[in-house]
Amino acid sequence: MASKKGIILSGMRPTGKLHLGHLVGALENWIKLQDTYDCYFLVADYHVLTTGFEKSAEIPANIHEMVLDWLAVGLDPQRSKFLIQSKVREHCELNLILGMITPMPWVERNPTIKDMIADMDLGGKIHYGLMGYPILQAADILLYRADLVPVGEDQVAHIEMTREIARRFNHLYSSVFPEPKAKLTKISRLPGTDGKKMSKSLGNSIYISDDNEAVKNKVRKMVTDPQKIRRGDPGRPEVCSVFSYHEIFNKEETGEIAENCRTGALGCVDCKARLAGAVGRELDPIRERRAVFAKNPDQVRQILADGSRVASERAGETMQLVRQAMGMVY
Ligand code: TRP
Repeated sequence: MASKKGIILSGMRPTGKLHLGHLVGALENWIKLQDTYDCYFLVADYHVLTTGFEKSAEIPANIHEMVLDWLAVGLDPQRSKFLIQSKVREHCELNLILGMITPMPWVERNPTIKDMIADMDLGGKIHYGLMGYPILQAADILLYRADLVPVGEDQVAHIEMTREIARRFNHLYSSVFPEPKAKLTKISRLPGTDGKKMSKSLGNSIYISDDNEAVKNKVRKMVTDPQKIRRGDPGRPEVCSVFSYHEIFNKEETGEIAENCRTGALGCVDCKARLAGAVGRELDPIRERRAVFAKNPDQVRQILADGSRVASERAGETMQLVRQAMGMVY
């Protein structure tokens, strides 16, 4: 059945449980788009191998945890396709072809790859596959001829490169690919409990699946305004991570909290307890849904098998268009 809706593709690398940064930076955006677009949500397992090839055996369990989080937050496999990259062979085929038409300097100047290399302290251990990361991502997107890619701001360079590759293919052969646009969320960066970007590898994350006790403990350790040492000291909400969380998870109370922080009437201990309560209320229904799916691993496997099968149909059509455009039909 041909659909007139625009097409969305987005994806995540399955590295395990997701955190609040994923929730507000990407997932809430994905959830809203499900009604108005034909959505493909990709489990990018090959992308994990670009740096994690020694831990490939951990991938299946990590896929399961991540997809439980997807389902728990309200991504809906009835409306959207959940697919596993390695289950749709065409990702590899298109990756190879796009690699042929992508000039090396485009790859070398990609800032996200540069950041990944710097962050991970890879030293000399950069592999060919890591340099190809953005090309594989371009293949992920173009394979579904997606119009829109909802992502966090760290991914914008990859989407820009995808557009350049699409333009180059269309120019060299014929117009097969729309030029996909990035769709950013308003909040694309949530600080971790230490004030740096929330990231699993930094150990500063609050997970979607954390229970209230864990949330309370993590919020208690969050960094606040360093000049507010005692209750009674005036604080500066604009420099406080706890306050930036209130603005997201506890909107109704932010005005009052800001005022009482500034005057010193509200101490950090109480302020954090209120935040932990608000985050807990947000996570309650999510954790409930997660528990239901966690009891049914077969259902989760079936969702991924079905989504991957439907995705393969569209991927197959695209590859036919690609071969025709290139004149490689035998
Ligand atoms: N690079 C993305 C990340 O690290 C994951 C990803 C792979 C992706 N393929 C994609 C995101 C295609 C959007 C579209 O989060």
